[in-house]
Amino acid sequence: MIVSQTSKMASDFDNGQTIALSLSYHNKAVIRFVSSVISKILARNNLIYLQDTIITILREIIVNAVKANSKRLYFRVQSLDMTDEEDYNLGMQHFKEFILDNQAFVEDELKKSDYKVVIYIKKFEAGFSINVQNNSPIHPDELKRIKSRIEKAKKYNDFSEVYCDVTDDSEGEGLGLVLTVLFLKSTGIGVNSLQISSNEKITQTSLLVPFQLKPAVVMNKIQQQILDEVRDLPTFPEHITELEKLCANSEVDYRIIADKISLDPSLSVSVLKLSNSAAFITRKRIETIGEAINIIGLKNLRAIIIASSARRILDERYSSFRQVWDHCNKTAFYARHLAAKLGVERIGQNAYMAALLHDLGKIVLLSTSSALSEWMLTLVRNRGMRSSTVIEEVSIGISHSSIGEKIARKWNLPEYLVDAIEWHHAPLSSRKEYRDVVYLTYLADKMCAIEDKKSDFFYIEEEVLERFNINNEESFTEIHADLMKKFAEHNAPKQ
Ligand SMILES: [Fe+2]
Ligand SMILES: [Fe+2]
Repeated sequence: MIVSQTSKMASDFDNGQTIALSLSYHNKAVIRFVSSVISKILARNNLIYLQDTIITILREIIVNAVKANSKRLYFRVQSLDMTDEEDYNLGMQHFKEFILDNQAFVEDELKKSDYKVVIYIKKFEAGFSINVQNNSPIHPDELKRIKSRIEKAKKYNDFSEVYCDVTDDSEGEGLGLVLTVLFLKSTGIGVNSLQISSNEKITQTSLLVPFQLKPAVVMNKIQQQILDEVRDLPTFPEHITELEKLCANSEVDYRIIADKISLDPSLSVSVLKLSNSAAFITRKRIETIGEAINIIGLKNLRAIIIASSARRILDERYSSFRQVWDHCNKTAFYARHLAAKLGVERIGQNAYMAALLHDLGKIVLLSTSSALSEWMLTLVRNRGMRSSTVIEEVSIGISHSSIGEKIARKWNLPEYLVDAIEWHHAPLSSRKEYRDVVYLTYLADKMCAIEDKKSDFFYIEEEVLERFNINNEESFTEIHADLMKKFAEHNAPKQ
C-alpha cells in the first residue's frame, strides 16, 4: 500500500536514514509515489508550502534522468556510437521523435534494461538533499549546454523575461531548467542548491533544501509586517473574557450567562447559529440562548463564544476573505461528521470548533501581504498554480499554520485549538492528548483539498488512517463521498 510505504519512508527520513527510490520510467504511478513521499517529508518539517515547487522541480529532474537513459538505450538499439560525432548527430536527429512516438516501448525496454534512476533523500541538520542519479554518463556537450542554461536562467528576474528569451528548446528541457531555477530563486531555496555532475558511470542532479529558507530582503519585511500584525491584533473584549470565566464555573446561574450574551446581539446570533450547526445535532431547533445553554452545556458554549469572537475580530479587521471561511465551514462540517462516523463522537464538537478555526492564520497572511498581490497574481498566472497562498508563504517564509498558532496563543485559545491550528498540516507532531481532534481536522481538511485537486489520498499519513481504521482508498473515498452528499443536502435551499 502506497500510503504505508510512503509514511514509513518519511519516518525513516526523520530518523536520519537515507531513503532510496529506484525507478526505470516516470509513469504516473511512480510520480505519485515520489510526490507522496516528498509531501509527507515536507509536511512533517513544516515546509508544506514548498510541496508544489519541490514536486514540480523533482518531476523535471526525473524526466530528464529517464530521458538520458532512454537516449543510451536508443543509441544501443540503433547501433549508433554516442562518442562518434557523426553517429551522435544522426541519432539526435530522430531520438526525440522516437521516444515520443514509442512511449510504451521505451518504458518496457527500460524496465528490462539495467538503466535505472535512483533517488536518494537524506536529512541533514540544516536541511535535506535529494540526489537523482541515472547510470549513464552525460555527453560533455550536453553538460555544457545545461550548465550554460542554468547560468543564463540565474539572470532572469521573472517569467516575462523568460518567455521573450527562450528559443533554444531543442530537447524540451530548456524551459524546464529555467523554470526550476526561477522557482529556486523565488522560494529562497537559492539557485546554487541545484548541482549537476557526471563521471564515466553516472550522472547526478542534486537539490539541497534548507529547513530555514532565506527569503529575499523585501520578503523579510513582509514577514516582520505579519508578526507585527499579529502583535497588534486586539485581544478579546472584556465582556467575552468575563463570559469565558463564567462558563468555566459549573456553579453559575445559567440565566446570568444568557442575559450577558443577549446584551451582545451579534454574539447572540453566532451562539444560536453555531448551536444549531452540524456540531450539535439535535432533533429540535434551538430558538433561545437559554435553550442553547441547556442543550449544549457550558463547555461547548465557551468554545462557541471563543470561536465566534475570534472570527468576529478577523472579520472586522480583514474583509473579503470569504473563501477561507467557506472552506473552514465545510471542513468543520466534515470534521464533526467524521467524528461520528469514525467512532469518536465524544470529541465531535471539539473537532468542529478546531476545524472552524484551523486556517485563521491564512486570513492574516493573505491580508498583510496584499500589497504584493498584484505581483503574486502574475506569478500565479504564469505558473499555472491554483492558489496564491502557497506562493505567498513560499516568498515570505512563514506558514499560515505558524501564524495561526501565534494568533491562537495571543488569544489564549484552549490548547486543543492551538494544536489543531498549528498542526493541521503535520498532525503527527501534535500533542498526544489532542491527537484525535487534530487528526480529524487534518482528514477533513485533506478531503477539501482533494476536492480542490490540491492533494491526493496517497499524501495522507498512514498513522492517521490507521487510527480510525481506514484501511484503503476505497473506504476513504466512500466516507468522503457520503460527507460530500451530506454537505450538499445541508446547504440545499430549504423548501
Ligand atoms: Fe491549512
Ligand atoms: Fe484548510
